[in-house]
Amino acid sequence: MKMSGNTVLITGGASGIGLSLAIEFRELGNTVLIAGRSKEKLMKAEALGFKTYSVDMTDATSIVTLAKTAIGDFPALNGVIQNAGIMKSENLLTGGNSAIQDETIATNLLGPMRLTEALLPHFLKQKSAAVFTVTSGLAFVPLNLNPTYCATKAGLHSYTESLRYQLRNTAVAVIEIAPPYVQTELTGSHQSVDPHAMPLKEYVAETMGILKSGEPLKEVLVKRVLPLRFAGDGGREKYEAFFLQFNDAMTANRAGKV
Ligand SMILES: NC(=O)c1ccc[n+]([C@@H]2O[C@H](COP(=O)([O-])OP(=O)(O)OC[C@H]3O[C@@H](n4cnc5c(N)ncnc54)[C@H](OP(=O)(O)O)[C@@H]3O)[C@@H](O)[C@H]2O)c1
Repeated sequence: MKMSGNTVLITGGASGIGLSLAIEFRELGNTVLIAGRSKEKLMKAEALGFKTYSVDMTDATSIVTLAKTAIGDFPALNGVIQNAGIMKSENLLTGGNSAIQDETIATNLLGPMRLTEALLPHFLKQKSAAVFTVTSGLAFVPLNLNPTYCATKAGLHSYTESLRYQLRNTAVAVIEIAPPYVQTELTGSHQSVDPHAMPLKEYVAETMGILKSGEPLKEVLVKRVLPLRFAGDGGREKYEAFFLQFNDAMTANRAGKV
């Protein structure tokens, strides 16, 4: 996909990584449409000059309405960045997680699948189009503290690969963006100032550099995410050691022990 002259819809585009990508894509000469849930955030995006749409990614009807309305308003629509997501903690020992599990699967996994389904007939009629999915380094090494989140991201990675294969003879590109831990408010305001997280500006600059490289891309991976993305490459034993070390460190950190 060329990097200018497109019309791109970004879900969850009124904050964090989505909003930063929206600004960058617009600067490159693309028309950018932002879809999101919170009215307050959407109003802020409108104040920045973006056309916005209200959507609840957990609701199949709302997603179909979004796709129809955006295509009606912008018949040149040829890109979507499936970025909306939630990340919540679950204690599987105490139970009581089913509401979180339903919401997480609906938002992070079913939502992008449903929106792809709704947009694809239109994308297939375009000269070129692209579906971007936003997964996570945690799609490749799960963090036990957020089990359903990691399962949805692994699921979205898997779905993305199948989608890319099925679309291999069309003009629709399928690109997975897998961020590392980044300073946004995904898990709360503390994350946006966590020194262990990658600064949002740096993350988006490196991501845009990769996207603008002109290389045919399957995955957009900044350097910081490579250890997670390729943790499985050294074989079973190395993966298990990495998984344990990562989860022990993160669990101790969450418990305030280090
Ligand atoms: N930051 C990280 O460390 C990190 C790492 C790996 C992957 N990611 C992924 O990057 C994506 C963007 O996250 P972020 O870090 O930029 O956090 P963020 O600022 O919280 O962005 C998430 C966006 O999704 C929207 N959203 C959530 N549920 C929705 C729903 N039901 N319907 C419509 N919109 C909904 C939120 O809008 P509302 O608040 O209005 O609901 C918000 O604008 C997510 O998919 C996340 O999993 C982030």
